[in-house]
Amino acid sequence: MTVPLPTVEVIERTMAGREVPAAEVEGFVRGWTSGSVSDAQMSAWCMAVCLRGIGPGAAAALTRALVGSGDRLELGKLGPTGDKHSTGGVGDSVTLVAAPLAAALGVRVAKTSGHGLGHTGGTLDKLEAIPGMRVDLPLERFVRQVRDVGIAVVGQSDRLVPADRRLYALRDQTGTVSGAALVAGSVMSKKIAGGAQALVLDVKAGGGAFFADADRAREAAELMADIARPWGRRVRWLVTDMEQPAGAMVGNALEVRQCGEVLRGAGPAPLRDLAVTVAGELAEAAGVVADGEGADAAAAALRTGAALATAERWVEAQGGDPAVWTAPERLPAARMREEVRAARAGVVARVDARTVGEAARWLGAGRLSRGQVVDPAVGVEVAVRVGDRVAAGDLLAVVHAQDAWLAGRAVGMVAEAVALGDDPVPPRPLVLARGRG
Ligand code: URA
Repeated sequence: MTVPLPTVEVIERTMAGREVPAAEVEGFVRGWTSGSVSDAQMSAWCMAVCLRGIGPGAAAALTRALVGSGDRLELGKLGPTGDKHSTGGVGDSVTLVAAPLAAALGVRVAKTSGHGLGHTGGTLDKLEAIPGMRVDLPLERFVRQVRDVGIAVVGQSDRLVPADRRLYALRDQTGTVSGAALVAGSVMSKKIAGGAQALVLDVKAGGGAFFADADRAREAAELMADIARPWGRRVRWLVTDMEQPAGAMVGNALEVRQCGEVLRGAGPAPLRDLAVTVAGELAEAAGVVADGEGADAAAAALRTGAALATAERWVEAQGGDPAVWTAPERLPAARMREEVRAARAGVVARVDARTVGEAARWLGAGRLSRGQVVDPAVGVEVAVRVGDRVAAGDLLAVVHAQDAWLAGRAVGMVAEAVALGDDPVPPRPLVLARGRG
């Protein structure tokens, strides 16, 4: 009989970059969920994972332990089910368009999501900006809604990956959000427990993401696809650019407003294109459209208003005000707006997503401390994209704030985030790599 490693040795070995057997990692995480491993020990281990990494077997073991902390849904009887997940970005509200878009194409969208993590936004915070919207659906209701409405989005709960809910909050408070294995375990535990058979993973790469470049993001994507394999899921992954915010809005109600524009056929092209790409991949992976036809089918569902109608039914089913997509004045709005203008003429060389995300977090769109209540109304509206030409005095951004001091601080951060140069900047592709699991 092998004797399990003492908890402290699991931490020390990880810190030293030495391999810890998968069974020991699973035991360590299960020990934490049952109370024999403390939060302090788990935080130390997470820090070691961020700094040294762990192998794919250990990442899969972490995922298994997180999945095993709650129920695992079986949705086979519902038809072609699908879910998508982003590894976290700034102004990344793709789900709010791609999920109803995929549902409009016939995918039964059974989506699990999280709140904001670090400087990145979270789908649950965005949805909670919609008056009345509930994301804490009991599991039976979640499954019924997937069956009857064709789309439901739910957060971690006492029954669905409760250990991910706790670990998510702990990582957020201890600055340990970025380790690839931690992100992979967190994302994949939700996807596996949520029960959807087809998965699209949108792995963000760049300064505003948890993966600094496309190579690191691709490794994380492949790791997540490997984790999904023994669970029999069909995975497609995309590595997408997160050097600049995905859309023009960064902040919860602001992003809902912008997604309403996209659902009505307008809004920023990069956000629309990414939503169409993700929904198209999901529809193909779920088998509701033929390979190679997903993006065209998704673009058509946006044009005809089918996605908007689905989004309205979805929000209404979860208790929210379905009119927010077409009547954005029903969303919470901040008390003050401060403009950021160009100090000189030039070409936008950089819109630093991380700094914009941090500015939004300072304004209250995300959490700086444990239990902080997010303010749905605040955020940053970015008026330019990399490569745009501006004249001196042109609008670069608008800060939406409740408080003059915070507005001033955010204005300074956003002004620093937008760098102007003199040379033309070639556009960066939105999708940097793609693959299948
Ligand atoms: N999304 C998640 O669910 N978890 C992470 O760790 C990052 C993004």
